[in-house]
Order: sequence, then C-alpha cells, then structure tokens
Amino acid sequence: MIQKITRHAFTIITIAIVCILISANGLSNSNKIKVDSLSDRYKDLFHLGAAINQDIIFGKDVQSLNIVTSEFNSITPENSLKWLYLQPSPNKFNFIAADKYVALGIKNNMNIVGHALVWHNQLADFMKNTSSSAAFTNHVKNHIHTVVSRYKGKIDAWDVVNEAFKEDGSLRPSVFKKQMGENYIEDVFKLAETADPDADLIYNDYNLYKPAKRAGVLKMVKKLQDNGIKINAIGVQAHWRLKSPSLNEIEQMILDISAAGVDLMFTELDITVLPNPWELVGAEVTQNFSKFEGDPKMDPYPNGLPKEIEIQLAKRYKDIFKLFMKHQDKISRVTFWGVIDQYSWLNDWPIKGRTNYPLLFNREYQPKLAYKTLANLIEN
Ligand code: XIL
Repeated sequence: MIQKITRHAFTIITIAIVCILISANGLSNSNKIKVDSLSDRYKDLFHLGAAINQDIIFGKDVQSLNIVTSEFNSITPENSLKWLYLQPSPNKFNFIAADKYVALGIKNNMNIVGHALVWHNQLADFMKNTSSSAAFTNHVKNHIHTVVSRYKGKIDAWDVVNEAFKEDGSLRPSVFKKQMGENYIEDVFKLAETADPDADLIYNDYNLYKPAKRAGVLKMVKKLQDNGIKINAIGVQAHWRLKSPSLNEIEQMILDISAAGVDLMFTELDITVLPNPWELVGAEVTQNFSKFEGDPKMDPYPNGLPKEIEIQLAKRYKDIFKLFMKHQDKISRVTFWGVIDQYSWLNDWPIKGRTNYPLLFNREYQPKLAYKTLANLIEN
C-alpha cells in the first residue's frame, strides 16, 4: 500500500516537474520572441544597418555599441574610412580606426560597408591642391588599391563613388572630373573591382527621388554596364523629411533603379523633424545657413519631442518601411545614418547646434515609438 502511494506521489511529482519545465520553456520562448532584435525581424527581407562613429568603433560609447551589435546586422563607418582620415597626406595612411571598425564587424558577424572611396567632400587637402593630373590620378589609384586590398574579403560592399551628380543630372564639376576627365567614374569602379573582385560596388547619392538627377545617374549605370564594368548597386542616401519625398516619389525611384538592373540599398536613412531652411529660402544648397543659428523658430524642440511629432515620425517610418517591404525583392539593405538622436549629424546640419530627433533611439538610449512601430510591422 505504502509502496503504491509512493509510486503515485512519484508520478504526480514527475508530471508536475514536466509541466513546470514545459511552461517555463514556453515563457522563455515568448520572452525571447518579444526581444527579437530589429534586424532579426527583417532578416528575410534585407540587411538592417547603422552608421557608427569613432566613439562606437573604439568602444567609448558602450551603450550605443550594445545597440548596434544587438539590433543591427550591417555597419557603415560614419566618417572613419573617408579619404581625409585614411590618407591625410600623400601615401601616409592611418588605418587605426578603420582596422578597429572592420574587426568589430567581423567579430559580430556583420555585413561590413566601406564608405567612401571617391568623394569631393572630406577629401585630403593635398588632393585639392595637386596640380598635375597624372599625379592626381596616381594618388587615386594608390588610394583605392591600398584601401580596398587591405580589406579584401572583409569589407563586403564599397561606396565607390559618392555624390558625383548635380541636381540636373549632369556630372558635378568636382576635382575628380577636372583632373581625371569625364570617364573617371568608370575608371575608379574598374580600380575597385581589380582590388577586390568579390566586393559589391555601389554608386551612392542623395535626391535620387528627383527624376532629373536619377536619370543622369541611371545613364551612367547603363554606360558602365554597356562597357562591361561592374556596378552592383545604387545607394540611395535617404536624408528625408516628415512630409517629403512623397511615397509615390520613393516608389517610382525604387522601380526605376531596379529596372536599370542594379540592386538598391538605402544607405543613409534618417528623418529630420525640424524646419528646413530651404523651404524658407529656396533650394540653393550652397547658401550659408549660419544666420539661422540660435533662431528658436528653427530649433523648436530643444527640451524634448512633443508627443504628436513623435507619432508623426513613427507613422512616417512605418509608411516608408511598408513600401520597402512591398519591394523587398529589389532592396538588399536599409541603413540608418546613426544610432541615437544625440549623435545624429542632423543636430548640426544644415544649421549648427539644433536638437533633432531623426533616429530610432532617443538620447537615453531607449527605443522610440518609431522603433516599436517598425518592430511590430513584422509578425513574430
Ligand atoms: C556626414 C557625417 O555624418 C558627419 O559626421 C560629417 O561631419 C559629415 O558627413 N552624405 C554622406 C555622409 O555620404 O558621408 C555624410 O556624413 C552625410 C551626407
């Protein structure tokens, strides 16, 4: 009898333990689902990335670094691989930050982007002052060969040329065009391919939702393709606003770029919530906006983002991502230009010293409503 009772008790206890284990496992699973990172949620659609600054690369901003390694699966160096920092004077390379950046990406098994090989901004002064075209071209060859070969097989995709076109779709009269001639884009894409035949090669620019500029860029893409020169993708800088570009403009851009037979990457996404000086004074980007510095009308939210604007921002991100999801077969990456609002370049551009809120994480490193909205767009 006693033996029977003991057996029964044993069975009941075993069942109870199994039940507890099953429910605990269920709980931890549902917890795990709740904390799925943003890039995990979007992993079947496209890479989700962030541009990272020197403080993140060197581990000084640990909280941002944690966000990057847990929420994103692609990185772009915000400044560290620009010419000015890599080769400030002729053949004197500084790879300290770049090496750290690449090691960080490898350690965390991330898609690693190189930004940017050929750009008229943040270029070393010696390049602007080189008088002989032959010497200039040799510097470009040396730069691309040295930098791209160093990270061969490690950097997955290069922004080979950045911002080479004007708004009317003609070639920008940059120092590269002046020194190397009309065909310099083809030349530098060839150099990049030679240095790392397996890396994805990108042409990157802003305002490609505008038809005239896009037409100029796509003409260049066709020329490269016709000449058998490798170009994998168009990088769309998406420094956008709450109301513009319209979803129709964005969709037309996605369709046109994809129809040109190249991949599409949103390489620099952020959305300003602040007044735009161009709406007030026209569209001349070379204008100096320093006269607006300290003007409270241009910096309306220094002490926090009003709830209704936070909701507008989340809705704008949601609308944009729904479009990205619709066209996910044409899009291989979406990268945010920064991690937390505090360190966004949009606090200082186009007017210095403002308080902007363009990203998914706030100044306390917490996910904003926009983050939650994007997370909820994907079913667990
Ligand atoms: C910006 C950086 O975010 C700033 O820190 C820097 O002072 C200027 O450049 N298009 C680009 C990026 O391709 O390299 C720019 O990054 C933003 C516009």
